[in-house]
Amino acid sequence: MNCSDIVAGRFQVIRLIGEGGLSRVWQAWDKRTERSCVLKVARDDLGAECSAARESLENEVCIMRGLTHPLLPRLLGAGEMTEVAFIAMEYMGGEPLSSVLEREGRLDGRVLLGIGIQLCDALEYLHAQEPPIVHGDVKPGNVLRASDGHVRLIDFGTARRVTGMEACSEQQGAGGQRLGTRGYAAPECSLPGAAVDTRADIYGLGATLYRLAVGERFDGSDEALQKMQVLRPRSLGAAMRRCLQVDPGARFQNCRELRRALERCRRSCLWDSCRRDSHRNPA
Ligand SMILES: Nc1ncnc2c1ncn2[C@@H]1O[C@H](COP(=O)(O)OP(=O)(O)O)[C@@H](O)[C@H]1O
Ligand SMILES: [Mg+2]
Repeated sequence: MNCSDIVAGRFQVIRLIGEGGLSRVWQAWDKRTERSCVLKVARDDLGAECSAARESLENEVCIMRGLTHPLLPRLLGAGEMTEVAFIAMEYMGGEPLSSVLEREGRLDGRVLLGIGIQLCDALEYLHAQEPPIVHGDVKPGNVLRASDGHVRLIDFGTARRVTGMEACSEQQGAGGQRLGTRGYAAPECSLPGAAVDTRADIYGLGATLYRLAVGERFDGSDEALQKMQVLRPRSLGAAMRRCLQVDPGARFQNCRELRRALERCRRSCLWDSCRRDSHRNPA
């Protein structure tokens, strides 16, 4: 695909904005709606892996079909073009949190709590689908943050509909790829035969918040646990620790519970900063 190509008689390619293991992502112009959009195209230079790239994209289309939520990109179309599968979706704007982290190292507690609370809303919507959708790859690279602070969750390449009975081996892509990314995927995702459910996303969100707060990937070590203990407000470290439990039964059981905990942390942040201000400027 090249700049200014017109795909499916409708999408005019503008520029390459992302390249992953299985796909390339282009910004394009949708001539029908007269809006920016995104074309995600299966890479065709992967040799034997090409079919895995196409299957991942087909899975993404199946998952995205019918989803409508302000924090998720809307599917505009999908198809084939000269043997290459593509998905067209709404352009969400903003910058991946992975790039924000490269620049800023880590984020302030109040900012990351705002991000976490919004992601709870997006995940709660996915988990409420029938059957529930597990995103399966919640991490900074799959979250876009706009300059007004709004975030969007993208990338349904490893998402799965779960009925609660699936074992992890059935969750893997046909190419055998693991569910999720090392450092963010819940431990049960790499245990052959273990069941994976929506609580895997609670772990992924916890690992994302850890990365945003500490500036490093969570590796489950004692040192990492200590780094959570010194975070302020204290309740933030406690909420992260609960998300990052190895046993899914010991985590928050759903995003509503987690959202409530993060909202309490945000109130503590506000309270702490009020107290600091009143120490600085005693009446
Ligand atoms: N809907 C979208 N709106 C804006 N940018 C997007 C969108 N989808 C993807 N991107 C950009 O493309 C990059 C890769 O997209 P992603 O779906 O995560 O692909 P991969 O499966 O290769 O990780 C993202 O980090 C983001 O910069
Ligand atoms: Mg991605």
